[in-house]
Amino acid sequence: MSVALPLPPGSAIGILGGGQLGRMLALAAARLGFDVVVLEREADSPAGRVAVKLIVGDYTDEAALAELAAATSLVTYEFENVPSAAVDWLVTHGIEVAPGARALAVAQDRFEEKTFLNAHGVPTVAFAAANTPDEAVAAVTALGAPALMKTRREGYDGKGQRWIEHAPDAAAAFAELGGVPVIVEAAADFVRELSIIAARGRDGATAVYPLAENHHERGILRRSIAPAQVSQATADQAERIAARVLAGLDYVGVIGIELFEMADGRLLVNEFAPRVHNTGHWTQDGCEVDQFEQHIRAVAGWPLGPTKAIAQVEMLNLLGEEADAWAKYAAEPETRLHLYGKRGARPGRKMGHLNRVKPL
Ligand SMILES: Nc1ncnc2c1ncn2[C@@H]1O[C@H](COP(=O)(O)OP(=O)(O)O)[C@@H](O)[C@H]1O
Ligand SMILES: [Mg+2]
Repeated sequence: MSVALPLPPGSAIGILGGGQLGRMLALAAARLGFDVVVLEREADSPAGRVAVKLIVGDYTDEAALAELAAATSLVTYEFENVPSAAVDWLVTHGIEVAPGARALAVAQDRFEEKTFLNAHGVPTVAFAAANTPDEAVAAVTALGAPALMKTRREGYDGKGQRWIEHAPDAAAAFAELGGVPVIVEAAADFVRELSIIAARGRDGATAVYPLAENHHERGILRRSIAPAQVSQATADQAERIAARVLAGLDYVGVIGIELFEMADGRLLVNEFAPRVHNTGHWTQDGCEVDQFEQHIRAVAGWPLGPTKAIAQVEMLNLLGEEADAWAKYAAEPETRLHLYGKRGARPGRKMGHLNRVKPL
């Protein structure tokens, strides 16, 4: 590692990806005195417009990576589908990348992810991999219908998924998903979806936020309520899960872990994201140090900040044209508005979010 840590204010931090998570990371980094350099494919992006420098290029474009490497010695990322080749190139050229390549590789493949979790004593639904239509049918037969088929790589916001009601339908669903390797998951009969946002520093110190309760519509997060009403046993269980995942990945940074709460109180992990997470946006207005600053602190080798809740928050995503009502929301005294500066409100596109705060 060629970077001296803790990284002093005035240094530059690179971010791979220019979306809203990158934008909010950049704003938090700026508050701590850092400059942010963004590498992103699009010339006009939420993070690009708040960064001191925007490099427009593909993540595997070596000229673009070289420009990033020249501008910063520490790089992080804001989405988990950054090609591993980009991270390998940066590391080979002496750049410190956090979270590390292993966390990225495990999180990029839903089968590897669940295999990793189970190997580290973290429960998930039963699952099987399938690479052919026949294997897909066999997987649903073994797990029982209904089952959920997901592409192993590249899905997000519910994309790349098909429910299978009858095992023979799995062959057609496999083809519909592109004939790519898939994971077939048993249906989780959960009572609630929860998530835990956690962080691990360079020194191995960890911090966890109070749990959030999450509601999805058509595979997209709609709203989070936090801190969620949970028993102490549930909170403890989630913390144990987070500790195992963080240690197992030798992780540095903030991670978002999605959980299914079962009727018997057990928590199963659905998936994790090696980055700041939409279900952690409430921390911006509800916690002492929010997930974005926490991530910057962790990767920069600073001490982690306190995570205690200071307010009760309802976080609502503003999808598509919903963000056009910004003036109405801005007039609500309990509402904190966070807009991403995206042009073009395509249906379902995350344009911003709001945090409605109440005293605890
Ligand atoms: N095995 C499962 N059983 C029941 N519901 C599931 C299962 N897996 C996912 N879901 C539902 O679909 C949503 C999206 O799936 P997820 O695996 O988190 O994909 P994405 O990467 O798109 O967020 C989850 O938040 C949950 O509501
Ligand atoms: Mg998810």
